[in-house]
Amino acid sequence: MHIALYQPGVGYYAAPRPLLGLGPQDGSDFVTAPELSPLFARSLARAVAAWMAHSGVEDIWEFGAGRGALAAELLAELDRLGCGPASGRVKRYVIMEVSGALRGVQAQRLAPFGEVVQWADAWPQRLNAVVLGNEVLDAMPVKLLHRVAGAWHERGVIDVGGHLQWSDRPTALRPPVAPAGEHDYLTEIAPQAEAWMRELGRVLHRGVACLMDYGFPEHEYYHPQRAGGTLMCHQGHQSDPEPLRDVGNKDITAHVDFTAMALAAQAAGLAVVGYTSQGSFLLEAGLVDLLPSVGVAEQAAALKLIHEHEMGELFKVLVVAPEADAAAAPDIGFARGDRTHTL
Ligand SMILES: C[S@@+](CC[C@H](N)C(=O)[O-])C[C@H]1O[C@@H](n2cnc3c(N)ncnc32)[C@H](O)[C@@H]1O
Repeated sequence: MHIALYQPGVGYYAAPRPLLGLGPQDGSDFVTAPELSPLFARSLARAVAAWMAHSGVEDIWEFGAGRGALAAELLAELDRLGCGPASGRVKRYVIMEVSGALRGVQAQRLAPFGEVVQWADAWPQRLNAVVLGNEVLDAMPVKLLHRVAGAWHERGVIDVGGHLQWSDRPTALRPPVAPAGEHDYLTEIAPQAEAWMRELGRVLHRGVACLMDYGFPEHEYYHPQRAGGTLMCHQGHQSDPEPLRDVGNKDITAHVDFTAMALAAQAAGLAVVGYTSQGSFLLEAGLVDLLPSVGVAEQAAALKLIHEHEMGELFKVLVVAPEADAAAAPDIGFARGDRTHTL
């Protein structure tokens, strides 16, 4: 999965292609919330402003910034709220991006913000910032675990005469909870995403981190009926379950086990500030108040962010912070509908 997504010259994210966009007509493969509607970033800006004021940090770090849509709209909205780069309240907007191709797109889109927007290649030793990541955890390579006739195997890939095929071998690895039953069961674990959360916990000294993605708590993730796992490919705005076909030309993702992310963050000294659905979070952050500021077509797009049958329920928001900032953190986004107890 790492090679298929990130290896230079081969990987999907290494290629200079549109990747993200509104529909197949522009050659893109999938759409994300910030690409779908600027009201995603504008609602989030209200929460970011509150978190910055609460923790006293002056930097924002975004991981996996895609085409720069979230950064551009967020910074503009923070300026409208009087607490953006123009007022000197946001000192730096730092992007960590593994894709050189997307980094180029970001640089072009974010040029109007000048020196405020910067790129980093590695985690700093110590971070005082609001950290953002939209659909980044799902893009990190997972391991496939396959229970066959009651025995667990790790699923790998072999090359048979130029054709890639699955190959299972016995493993001591296990999902965090045993899916009930003895039936054959394919699922994923995400050690890289967990390591990323631990690294976040190690370096985040002051501030708040907000991770947005599709996924569920572990009792839903490892539900006995989810026997085929969540690994999925995206190409031309269609999804398919065949990562071994057309490798490098499509995105490969897995849903996020938010329980595992919260536990990894806690193990590294962070506390959970809130966890809820994207729909609930955006409503609480004020999306409805912003609707009259955009046209009818943009309103319809924005409503997809919160409708349960679109992105409102499958997508979740997890906010974590160092203990000092988690205590008495503003409950913006979570005042009603917090689901931390379900993790
Ligand atoms: C599905 S795209 C989401 C892009 C953007 N956040 C959005 O919502 O439009 C995943 C992004 O995460 C980046 N990415 C994947 N793993 C990463 C990592 N370990 N650190 C930073 N960026 C990463 C990819 O290159 C890509 O920009």
